[in-house]
Amino acid sequence: MELSVLLALRDPAGIPFYPVVFQGLYILTWALHIAFVLLALGSAGLSLFGSTQRNNVHWKQLTPHLIQTGKLSVSLLIVLGVAPLLFTQVIYDPNWYVANTLSGMWVFIFIYALIVGYCMYYWYYYANKAKHGGGVIVGAISFGFLVFCGVLMHSFTVTSLMPNDWMEMYMPNGVVDMGGWTFNVETIRLAFMVSLAIPVVGIFLQAYSRFVSTRKDFEASYVAFTASLGTKAAIIGLVLSAALFVLWMFTIGYLFHPISLATVVGVVILLGLSAQNRNSYITVGWLVVVALLISGVREWIRYDIMAALGYTIYDYPVNLELPSLIMFLSTFLVMGGVGVAYLLMMAWKVGKSEGVFDGSKDVAVTKLGNYTLAIMSAWIVIFFGWGLTILFNNIL
Ligand code: HEM
Repeated sequence: MELSVLLALRDPAGIPFYPVVFQGLYILTWALHIAFVLLALGSAGLSLFGSTQRNNVHWKQLTPHLIQTGKLSVSLLIVLGVAPLLFTQVIYDPNWYVANTLSGMWVFIFIYALIVGYCMYYWYYYANKAKHGGGVIVGAISFGFLVFCGVLMHSFTVTSLMPNDWMEMYMPNGVVDMGGWTFNVETIRLAFMVSLAIPVVGIFLQAYSRFVSTRKDFEASYVAFTASLGTKAAIIGLVLSAALFVLWMFTIGYLFHPISLATVVGVVILLGLSAQNRNSYITVGWLVVVALLISGVREWIRYDIMAALGYTIYDYPVNLELPSLIMFLSTFLVMGGVGVAYLLMMAWKVGKSEGVFDGSKDVAVTKLGNYTLAIMSAWIVIFFGWGLTILFNNIL
């Protein structure tokens, strides 16, 4: 692919801040996106197995919790998918838009598959609630849709990483193909990504068992059951994912690359932490580090592919625009930070308390809730006030 074509596909307006910042935010937010993708797939998948174990008292207690975890994770993975989407289209717009054009039909299908899959998940959730273990077939179909969405996401990524083949995909044998059915898969990369769902749900279960262990209404045998199930899933899953990762790195010639080696070391430490299961909250923290490393590997590969063609994001014209940056950072850090802290604190306290938790009687929850409301109200006024002022200034 000619560099001039890639440059022509960039946004002529440039970008509002230094590219390296967008790149860092991409790595960070994609790690968050994939963390919830894997938790959703892992907990939904395990819940399907749990739904078949109707005579086991522990599975009967765990399955609805896994279904609930999957349900919340899907909503979080969607919200957290938007952020890397925005960052990737800012610095790698040639790649993202070409992939979306070549695979236009699949992009439409992705949206509807996600809607149908998620709606069916709610069906599964309510069926399970009503019948104490029902809805397995609906759950399995919903799970299939969600996995399919992941395969499509993967295909968009792979296509975006093949600039040298774009013309051939657009004009196979010299004839323009406007179908939008381009579909590419890198089997080992995909298998690695999806396999991570097993250790992620395992480590989640270890943390879950620690979390509920302080509650009197959860029996010790149940806590031990979930901890041991989590440890098994984490160990088996990590060994499998590590093998697939090494294979993937080997096939693309990155095995001895520093970031790839760092990831392998990170996974080995994660394996040790989860096998011992002394403090699962620390294991979760380390899992975040490993997720960031994997996200870094992905970005490194893409950066290298593009740099080989002479396209480097660091050369992207910067049209410094401080007001948008201030708006973005204050939204992300102040509103996002306080709002997320409020929700997390509430969720933690609800989970830790027996019976109904009344947030209005809790000083810290009430304070954070009030701050969140005040910040959100101020944000709405500033956002619309600012936007309308600029709009009227420009058109009047
Ligand atoms: C059930 C639904 C979804 C699943 C299972 C899923 C899974 C995945 C997977 C496996 C990847 C990595 C692909 C690879 O590197 O080979 C990925 C990447 C990504 N996903 Fe998702 N995803 C889902 C929904 C979404 C949604 C709704 C959004 C946006 C709102 C989104 C945004 C992204 C972005 C931006 C990337 C990185 C693309 C790139 O930079 O090339 N995903 N997703």
